[in-house]
Amino acid sequence: METLFVKANDRENSVTGLLYEAFISTYKALNPNDSIVELDLFQEHMPYLNALMIEVNYKAAQGIPLSISEEEVNHIVKRHLNQFLAADKIVFAFPLWNLTVPAVLHTYLDYLHHPRKTFTYTEEGLVGLLPNKKVALLNARGGVYAEDDRSEMAVSFVKNHLNVFGITDITTVIIEGHNQFPDRSETIIQKGLQKAKQVAKTF
Ligand SMILES: Cc1cc2nc3c(=O)[nH]c(=O)nc-3n(C[C@H](O)[C@H](O)[C@H](O)COP(=O)(O)O)c2cc1C
Repeated sequence: METLFVKANDRENSVTGLLYEAFISTYKALNPNDSIVELDLFQEHMPYLNALMIEVNYKAAQGIPLSISEEEVNHIVKRHLNQFLAADKIVFAFPLWNLTVPAVLHTYLDYLHHPRKTFTYTEEGLVGLLPNKKVALLNARGGVYAEDDRSEMAVSFVKNHLNVFGITDITTVIIEGHNQFPDRSETIIQKGLQKAKQVAKTF
């Protein structure tokens, strides 16, 4: 079993980091034979999706030879795509920043959209090609958001992307409200970390 851990926060002592550590330490202890890959997105060189990358993706899919600079971009995108495809289970840890995900996570998700690899077009619309993957989303956000609050574009955003790839087995652990209710902050965080450990036990 291969499990990929994707972290998208480079702040020290972040709640996202605590969630990540609580989950991965529990998971590792209970799954010693798992192959575990950790991907810290802020440590990666991740160029934005742009005209060059779109052209490279098209050319690579058609088998058209790439220049040296195109090959560099192709290598970065394909390395992330192939690592994601190889994983049976994926855990994402990310904060809510300005109503959405850190830009680096947006870029990572851009790398995963590939016809015939992660989804395909049919007459009925898009069909995801990765229905067997299992995902956990670990998210921290300072305020409290209702599940249908359209201003929340982090958890909903990541879920929408995964759904395009056919991934529906998604468990979420959200720590929220610790900034909104400072007097209850510690209790909220500790409760969320316990939940992360609980979910990790059966993931
Ligand atoms: C740049 C920035 C933007 C933020 N934007 C929001 C936001 O839009 N809504 C919210 O509820 N909390 C927001 N927060 C609070 C974080 O969601 C909160 O601190 C949470 O713990 C995630 O950050 P952490 O993992 O770094 O602790 C923001 C924090 C920062 C630093």
